[in-house]
Amino acid sequence: MAIPSFKTVEHVIEELKPGYPVYCLRPAEISRQARFFLDKFPGRVLYAVKCNPHLEVLQILYDAGIRHFDTASLTEIALIREHFPQADCYFMHPVKARAAIRTADQVYNVDHYVIDHIKELEKIIDTKGGGDGSVVLVRIVTPVHDAQYQLSDKFGVPADQAAELLRQVHKAQFQTGVAFHVGSQCRTPEAFEDGVKTALDVIAEADVPVHYLDVGGGFPALYEDDFPPPLEDYFDSIERAFEQAKLRRDCVLMCEPGRALVASGCTLLTQIQLRKDNKLYINDGIYQSLSETVMGKMKLPARLINPNRSLSSTSQDFIMLGPTCDNLDILPTPFHLPDDAEEGDWIEIGQAGAYTNSAATRFNGFFPETFVSVDAPPLLPVAS
Ligand SMILES: Cc1ncc(COP(=O)(O)O)c(C=O)c1O
Repeated sequence: MAIPSFKTVEHVIEELKPGYPVYCLRPAEISRQARFFLDKFPGRVLYAVKCNPHLEVLQILYDAGIRHFDTASLTEIALIREHFPQADCYFMHPVKARAAIRTADQVYNVDHYVIDHIKELEKIIDTKGGGDGSVVLVRIVTPVHDAQYQLSDKFGVPADQAAELLRQVHKAQFQTGVAFHVGSQCRTPEAFEDGVKTALDVIAEADVPVHYLDVGGGFPALYEDDFPPPLEDYFDSIERAFEQAKLRRDCVLMCEPGRALVASGCTLLTQIQLRKDNKLYINDGIYQSLSETVMGKMKLPARLINPNRSLSSTSQDFIMLGPTCDNLDILPTPFHLPDDAEEGDWIEIGQAGAYTNSAATRFNGFFPETFVSVDAPPLLPVAS
């Protein structure tokens, strides 16, 4: 079902006067980012569905040419297989229920799986067996660099134990692969070069044919006070390391971006419910779309809008408070907005396409679920 489409966010406000949060998608921006990855990344591009699984977002990515999806649960696999039967799903969660492996295999024909422990490999052997052309990738830990989230704290086999696991995968007659994730919102392109080099050391030690090298996600988006190097630098760093590798000629290089593909392609339109001095109570918060302002300390660009009045030309910092009755529901970083902000004004928050709707809870009865599309540029942070 198509979502309502508007020319600008101001038109959304005039038409809907929303007292509820509205996700304003920018289809042109999402397509542009997808085509950028498809054109410039020197390998196969998988979209990490967890980042934003809204059907409209998936459709825009698919229409732009994305055909491979990193899925971490049966729900995500079903979503992709049922709506995009021609697309491929990769089951990229290193810890899976046996029933999920069986269903992924038998119902959804998934043939790429990731593991980081011998017991997970045994589960895959028990539930689906090897020798049918399926692929098992070994997720490894790579050197730590500057990233907002360090995913290797939870997943990955240490590099010095990975070669043995890779040999076991080969012995079980799967096609083999090595995968890693340098951490989300990674600010150093060298992290990927180091990751590829670590993977190549593991491959050399294992001395088995390797069919896939997956450099994961972690490509950054822009946030306030957070302007990492351009994505081309990351791609160059990966290409450099990959080209020097002595791998099978048909070894497939893959990446699994989430954030960098969709962050800029959506803004969040919120409304002020009450002003108390320098405090603005808004209708979205840390339990809904804005959890990353706490968990990742992300600072998001914002602008005040009210088409019915002219706004003050002087501004000030405001503390932003979410809609739940919970005292933790306060955004950690103030927003700088016109100083006459008041009840009924709207605040458009930018870079809201990644880990917003996908991470929202229903706590206290607040759940943002309205999506529109807007034919306007994204709301990006401005370098100071
Ligand atoms: C296995 C895997 N791949 C890809 C991603 C996407 O990462 P990002 O959004 O940082 O690109 C994640 C995020 O957690 C992940 O766990």
